[in-house]
Amino acid sequence: MTSSPTPLRLGVNIDHVATIRNARRGEHPDPVKAALLAVKAGADGITAHLREDRRHIRDEDIATLIAALSVPLNLEIAATREMLDIALKHKPHAACIVPEKREEQTTEGGLDAAGQIDALRPVVAALSDAGIRVSLFIEPDPAQIEAAIKLGAPVVELHTGRYAELDGAKRAQELRRLSDAAALAAKNGIEPHAGHGLTFDNVGPIAAIPQVVELNIGHFLIGEAIFGGLECAIREMRRQMDLVR
Ligand code: PXP
Repeated sequence: MTSSPTPLRLGVNIDHVATIRNARRGEHPDPVKAALLAVKAGADGITAHLREDRRHIRDEDIATLIAALSVPLNLEIAATREMLDIALKHKPHAACIVPEKREEQTTEGGLDAAGQIDALRPVVAALSDAGIRVSLFIEPDPAQIEAAIKLGAPVVELHTGRYAELDGAKRAQELRRLSDAAALAAKNGIEPHAGHGLTFDNVGPIAAIPQVVELNIGHFLIGEAIFGGLECAIREMRRQMDLVR
């Protein structure tokens, strides 16, 4: 008898709705409205990254998101005192610890958990003690999984950015690394998630890794939504203009 595969959760990252909003420093488009639409469309959770420079969501978005959502919020944060205090104040369902460099365009590479176990230990402990499910965003590397085990993290999110950028044999090799890392994590009681750079074209092989429980996808979905929704928005503007002429 074959056992049915683990259901695969979709976490939708709404950061880039906030990026567009912030371009005019106003309220539109509202990332909370986008999050509710994502849930209506089948998202199992919402992910948002509070960056040091607040280029994506802003502090006040966290409470609004938590109040509005019927699904878990996964808050991405750097392992800093400021971000730890914010997470402890709002107590999102999950906190994903990511590396953060001020000048980077997006999260570049996974967290070096193996290289900073002592610094991460109190952060993971404080979040866990507050009932927040801790996830570490790491490269698909056995040394990083070992570090997650030592830190007692219940979840790792495997960085699929390199996989997304590569092609041919190199992509196949990176897919194997991801698959092996997911198996190693699951074998050790850690729930493997994955994300970064996923698109319609490259999501299939990642979604097929049987141990992976959740994918977090943002930029592509928000970009793709332009093509799905632009025509509708322009038609409505045309209609509003024509109504008075
Ligand atoms: N997971 C993590 C930890 C991330 O930092 C990001 C990007 O913010 C994503 C997933 C989503 O990546 P993308 O926006 O490329 O889909």
